[in-house]
Amino acid sequence: MNKQFYLTTAIDYVNGQPHLGHAYEKIITDVMARANRSLGRTVFFLTGNDEHGQKVQQAAMAEGKTPQHYCDKLAVIWKAFAEKLNLSNNDYVRTTEPRHKQVVQAILAKLHREDHFYKASYHGFYSTKEETFLTEKDRRPDGTFDPMFGEVIELTEDNYYFKLQRHQAWLIEYIERNPDFIFPDYRRNEVLGFLKNNVLEDLCITRPASRLNWGIPLPFDPEFVTYVWFDALSNYITIPAACGDPAICGPLEIPIPDGAPRLSLWPADAQVIGKDILKFHAVFWPIMLKAMGIELPRQIVVHGWWQKDGQKMSKSVGNVVDPIQVIQEWGVDAFRYYVVRELAVGPDGNWTDAGFRSRYQAELANGLGNLVNRSLSMLTRYRQGLVPARSDELAADAARAVQDTRQHLEQFGLQAALLSIGGLITRANQYVDQTAPFKLAKDPAQSERLDQVLYNLVEVCRILAILLNPFLPDTSIKMYQQLGLGEVPADFQRAAWGGMTAAHRIGTPTPLFPRKDLESPKRA
Ligand code: ME8
Ligand code: MG
Repeated sequence: MNKQFYLTTAIDYVNGQPHLGHAYEKIITDVMARANRSLGRTVFFLTGNDEHGQKVQQAAMAEGKTPQHYCDKLAVIWKAFAEKLNLSNNDYVRTTEPRHKQVVQAILAKLHREDHFYKASYHGFYSTKEETFLTEKDRRPDGTFDPMFGEVIELTEDNYYFKLQRHQAWLIEYIERNPDFIFPDYRRNEVLGFLKNNVLEDLCITRPASRLNWGIPLPFDPEFVTYVWFDALSNYITIPAACGDPAICGPLEIPIPDGAPRLSLWPADAQVIGKDILKFHAVFWPIMLKAMGIELPRQIVVHGWWQKDGQKMSKSVGNVVDPIQVIQEWGVDAFRYYVVRELAVGPDGNWTDAGFRSRYQAELANGLGNLVNRSLSMLTRYRQGLVPARSDELAADAARAVQDTRQHLEQFGLQAALLSIGGLITRANQYVDQTAPFKLAKDPAQSERLDQVLYNLVEVCRILAILLNPFLPDTSIKMYQQLGLGEVPADFQRAAWGGMTAAHRIGTPTPLFPRKDLESPKRA
């Protein structure tokens, strides 16, 4: 049983509104999933929803629904969202599913057995909105708490704590010895800075069931439910456990579930998250795994945050970018293209409608779309759609793009990969302008030269379909169809020059990215 290439995303709060930020994270992970499949690996891509906690309980109550009913309704919307983004996820986890809850309870039982928890009483200020106890550091200079914490109440309560602190030195050493563990490097430095300058407080891992019952009960003390973050982080291993992964079932001492497919997934190859939840993933999560005796994930990949027009997106400002709306107007691939092309994985991004339109126009309509359409139209017009004999004029340019793209994809360089691919598109469009096949076609003496040019163009289009497949899956399939190729362009190895064979008949060229603001009957 070979270990699969295992990719995860953060699981979104089910009661939030799916927006650009959620879409972005899922799309970059999907590009990596598809890219790795194309590179020959078997990939398991997991995403899902985080469904427990006080906010869900309260919102359900406000609507007069049971929390489960409320979650079930919202999860439908989130799953539909994943489909509209054209995600190729292999599974979808919901933290209210029995398969997840059972394993979380096994984790809690094991850690309790092995003395990683203790019960203690705590007195302090509690933010119901953030579901967390506040410390003195959270006070503003005037002694009040920031309005972002909502209503703050004073509480004394018993809870279970996870002994984090004793793992602090180990974690620092681990991160120092494994420089690739946290990506990009400035996020690693941030975590190291935090760990070296603070003493970790033990982590409160419960809420009294009397106050919050929408959570997973502790198997050893039913008066408590698990803290949402402990529950949520565990999803990354509960699904492998449910699939019978020995790397999880073994250390947790749980039997392989009946009928489980017995996949080997863990350790995750990359866990993709946003910068706001770095501490949970780079501090709490590794320590939880260490305590369970489970290997750490190979990499935590931390992406930046999107703003809209230089402002934080928020419902109250009314500037939340709705991916569904963009997709309805421009198509899913245009949306996927923009978010990946606009920024590298790491820094923050800024959505502007003008920026989106201008990339669409310049890079998709005039760049890729125009190249494919004129290349295939000329082949249809001048050679009845039959591919001429092989010619290698653009072979070196294509080979460089293929090699660079592969290299970038191996290192989460998604934007860089698109730039390499864009370089080949630009080169091929220049080639059309320089060789002027429309002029060659008028001169019978240039017939052989025209054959060469047409071959180079059609072959570049074929290679582009393969390179673009992880990014623009639908477009890439359309390109293959227009090229008259049957299979799906999802095998990187096929990107070697010379795949188009002489006398092959291409399909019908149709514009991939219609020019929006130039649409008029005259141009059609
Ligand atoms: O934090 N730009 O869920 P969530 C980019 N349930 N990414 C953004 C973003 C933005 N404007 N807004 C949110 C949670 N995100 C927990 C996670 S994981 C075990 C539990 C990202 O719905 C955010 O950084 O608030 C996070 O990675 C993801 O969306 C889900 O956020
Ligand atoms: Mg959030």
